[in-house]
Amino acid sequence: MCWGEVRMTKMQKILVVDDAQLNRELLCQMLEGDYAIDTAEDGVAALEKLREGHRDVAALLLDLQMPNADGFAVIGQMKANGWLNRIPVLIISSEHSVEVENRCLAMGAVDFIHKPFEGSIVRNRIRNAIALFAGRNSLEQKVEEQAQVLKYQSQIIQMQAQKLSRAKPFNELMLEYRSVIMEVETRLKVLNAVFSEEYKRNPFESIKSRLKTPESIYQKLERKGHAATVENIREYISDVAGLRVICSFPDDIYRLAELLIKQDDIIVVRKKDYIQYPKPNGYRSLHFILNVPIFLPDEKKYVKAEVQFRTIAMDFWASLEHKLKYKKNVDSTDGIEQQLKACADSIEALDYQMQEIRNRIDSTGVVGEEVESGDAV
Ligand code: GTP
Ligand code: MG
Repeated sequence: MCWGEVRMTKMQKILVVDDAQLNRELLCQMLEGDYAIDTAEDGVAALEKLREGHRDVAALLLDLQMPNADGFAVIGQMKANGWLNRIPVLIISSEHSVEVENRCLAMGAVDFIHKPFEGSIVRNRIRNAIALFAGRNSLEQKVEEQAQVLKYQSQIIQMQAQKLSRAKPFNELMLEYRSVIMEVETRLKVLNAVFSEEYKRNPFESIKSRLKTPESIYQKLERKGHAATVENIREYISDVAGLRVICSFPDDIYRLAELLIKQDDIIVVRKKDYIQYPKPNGYRSLHFILNVPIFLPDEKKYVKAEVQFRTIAMDFWASLEHKLKYKKNVDSTDGIEQQLKACADSIEALDYQMQEIRNRIDSTGVVGEEVESGDAV
């Protein structure tokens, strides 16, 4: 310590639990100066002291054979009260049986020191155990604090989203997005009907649609650094209205998408072809952001919609892969990612094989009488 410096830090407290007064005194002598020492002469007294002030105890030195409640009972109770996660327990015992030592360690004791004990070894082992737990405790505290922050943030998001969904202009905007979903759905259904008339099969199996929730809209605007206003939603969010078209074969995807976007009042804002250029994770779909006119009582308005085309097998894959993104606690995520990538590649091969078989069936010249399902939507 430098001259003039005053040690202000509070000494860490060690609770020494032993029924033999001599042992308690010996341990106290060894540790005094480095730690503040408290003592208990049996398990019951130790648990009483822990109940009063377990937060102040940095480590526990525990004898095994004691009257009233023995060392095992103390560890068991500490575990039940959740104290064992925070306070390192070091057993000090003349017991030399491997079985007893293993039992203590299995119950949650961090160390086992044999009597007669050597002062420097006891001090080093205590210091290490306290340092280990301090690191772990501060990490747990940080996680706890972060969880609190996240909870707080999610409450703010919910409040803002509720505020948004109560505003009239927001609800009018949502009506526009619902209308554009209906509009695109109708156009696709018409194409399906015409197409199935011509080719005697449906180019798509089903359409799924969804309107982004106010929470999700608010979060996306936050992420992009824009205030939650109707103008910003219109300007910066392209997927409030979302449609997913599930086709049987890859070539149907392109044929159908082509027929849709060549309609002279539809404007393609953006196209992403993840079938020709799959994502590294194996994701394959054809995406468009379209500007589509809707007809309101006294105006015609262009509204954005996101339309995704994929095969049935790709859709099955994407929904499973999507789950992985939300399961942060899945172990060996790397292994799963590789498995998913392998599945995506197999799916691609399978899709094209099925298409090839369909082409061969079609080229026999025998055209089916009926389409399996007239309106699959
Ligand atoms: P978002 O801001 O997430 O909408 O993405 P983006 O603007 O980069 O557009 P993109 O066309 O890449 O993705 C649009 C949507 O496609 C996503 O919101 C997902 O629904 C879907 N998607 C894109 N990539 C993946 C992927 O790797 N896996 C899965 N399961 N879905 C994906
Ligand atoms: Mg999106």
